[in-house]
Amino acid sequence: MAHRILTGIKPTGQLTLGNYLGVLKHLPKIQNDGESFIFIADLHALTLPIEPNDLKQNSIDIAAFYLAAGLDPNKATLFLQSSVSTHAELNAIMQNYLYMGELSRMTQFKDKSSKMNQNSIGLGLFAYPVLMACDIILYDADIVPVGEDQVQHVELTRDLVNRFNNRYGETLVLPKAVMQKVGARIMSLSDPNKKMSKSDPKGDIYLKDDLKTIRKKIMSAVTDMGDEIKYDQVNKPGISNLLTIYACCKDLTIQEAENQFKECHRYGDFKKAVADAVCDELEPFQKRYQEIIENKSYIDVLKQGAIKAKKVADATLIKVKKKVGLLDVE
Ligand code: TYM
Repeated sequence: MAHRILTGIKPTGQLTLGNYLGVLKHLPKIQNDGESFIFIADLHALTLPIEPNDLKQNSIDIAAFYLAAGLDPNKATLFLQSSVSTHAELNAIMQNYLYMGELSRMTQFKDKSSKMNQNSIGLGLFAYPVLMACDIILYDADIVPVGEDQVQHVELTRDLVNRFNNRYGETLVLPKAVMQKVGARIMSLSDPNKKMSKSDPKGDIYLKDDLKTIRKKIMSAVTDMGDEIKYDQVNKPGISNLLTIYACCKDLTIQEAENQFKECHRYGDFKKAVADAVCDELEPFQKRYQEIIENKSYIDVLKQGAIKAKKVADATLIKVKKKVGLLDVE
């Protein structure tokens, strides 16, 4: 059977090089492996406080970034999650099949909620993986390209699918998280033991940073003792992260990247090569992004995408409603 591919990005803040190297860069290739549904997870962005104008602008940016990365709207269906109300409808059903114990063990929830006032943690943040599971299930996706931090949520989706199918008979497709060999976890430039996430201006490279800023950030990235350019996550997390970034930009394996710097014993020279590689990668991407923002071509793409996505999603919802015994009198 042909593959169904689904993935999404949440418009919570500025997209980072982590989002790009972990997923975005690879989507144009992945879209040829089957039928792809690629979306902007805007409902998910409401799980933490966000200004309405920021949410709008971030959503537009993600649409433009998808197109700038090379996704072809004739091949992949691109849409806004909130344009397909079926996600919220399935969520109302599926929330009964995931348990509070499971949800409270999710790393992302634990991380985010531990930094918040315990009296003002929204229910949506806690229930986040239910909606994410619905995103995947609705499109019968068997392949879910993600970075490492999202694997736990896809695993939980698998538990949900198995639970549902055991109870009601074979209904939902079992998804699998697929990660890149290189780039599934890009680390912060200011603390290479921490993941690069959208909320760390010092350690992040933002896809909208100008090239000068990007260079500056890479040149001041935290490195490690010694002078060897070697991949060693335990003893050399900073250098390992920069090697990963370099390898990913140049489409090399870590080993190949390491070989290129065997003779290099100056971190400064190495960092300059990394900065060149990132700028070479992002310069044309940023140009395409700018053109797309100016000609607003994303609007029509998202409109058409929502129509296509809704058809597929509605068919799954009807199937699920029947299975659980919701009466259909239409
Ligand atoms: P989000 O918006 O946090 O991130 C989008 C994608 O980028 C990956 N990623 C990274 N990859 C490598 N290194 C990093 N430092 C890094 N940071 C982020 C993420 O793993 C993700 O693949 N919950 C999701 C959005 C979502 C979704 C879905 C994804 C909602 N429904 C259904 C897949 C399927 C999220 O918040 O991703």
